[in-house]
Amino acid sequence: MSSRFQIQVPAKWILAGEHAVLRGATAVALPHPEMQLEIRFDPQGSCGGLKVSPQEGSQEILDLISAIRDRWESEDRVFPKLEGHLEVKSSIPIGAGLGSSAALCVAISRWLSEPLGISKKDLFEFAIQLEHRFHGRSSGLDIAVISAREPISFVANRGARPLGIRKIPRFTFHDTELRARTSECVIRVEKLREEDPALAMRLDEAMSAASRFALEGLVLYDSGSQTQGLEQVKRGMMQAQECFRSWQLVPGAAHRMERKLLAEGALAVKLTGAGGGGFLVALWVD
Ligand code: PMV
Repeated sequence: MSSRFQIQVPAKWILAGEHAVLRGATAVALPHPEMQLEIRFDPQGSCGGLKVSPQEGSQEILDLISAIRDRWESEDRVFPKLEGHLEVKSSIPIGAGLGSSAALCVAISRWLSEPLGISKKDLFEFAIQLEHRFHGRSSGLDIAVISAREPISFVANRGARPLGIRKIPRFTFHDTELRARTSECVIRVEKLREEDPALAMRLDEAMSAASRFALEGLVLYDSGSQTQGLEQVKRGMMQAQECFRSWQLVPGAAHRMERKLLAEGALAVKLTGAGGGGFLVALWVD
């Protein structure tokens, strides 16, 4: 494997639809405007073998590659010898609901797609399989929006629909500095489903409606109906945040930050991603 390779992929954030998307609801997700991950591969950059830098996190990437190799070889396919220097640079905080592992999976999949002969059609599924190593089973939403690099609506098993919008409202991102594993948050929602299936179903429906409001709002805003658009996005975000609250995924510190942002004039504030911490996203009149 001798070609140089370089790719940048964005972080992602979710406007509405978290958790319910795992049971067929629509979700709305966007690429993050600033945070991103970049990988560069230089075949001449090592003296034999694959060197991954920086040191921090390199073992995880080597383990990921060796899991791909094992799977590849178990299906009697030849895995190319990887010799060179793989450099990974990321400004995406880990475990914060901004898609750090999905961004890595998309970038690694693109890098290996040529030497492994993975077609464009199969690339999405390949990246999702990689992401399952980090999160257990995921809906594929993170991989879909990071691959699309533009705002999408998403339904599991049906895939992404690019929204084709150019103008979006002003959103800001606020770190609660709390971290939670996606899998633990998913388990908490599952537990509620066992304890109170009727409530769980109502929350999934409410989150699904939140996505519809948010989606409608984005489209209205883009088409020039800014006041109406903001109103619908606000409605969607507020309803989504109430779902997080009912799932008990809004820790005290995140709630206090939410109140502060609202007091400062934000139209709506919600967690983005699986919840339990991570980032809050705030909507503002621009
Ligand atoms: O990967 P996270 O933490 O942004 O969570 C994504 C949203 C979930 O619906 C909770 C999980 C999924 O796979 O869709």
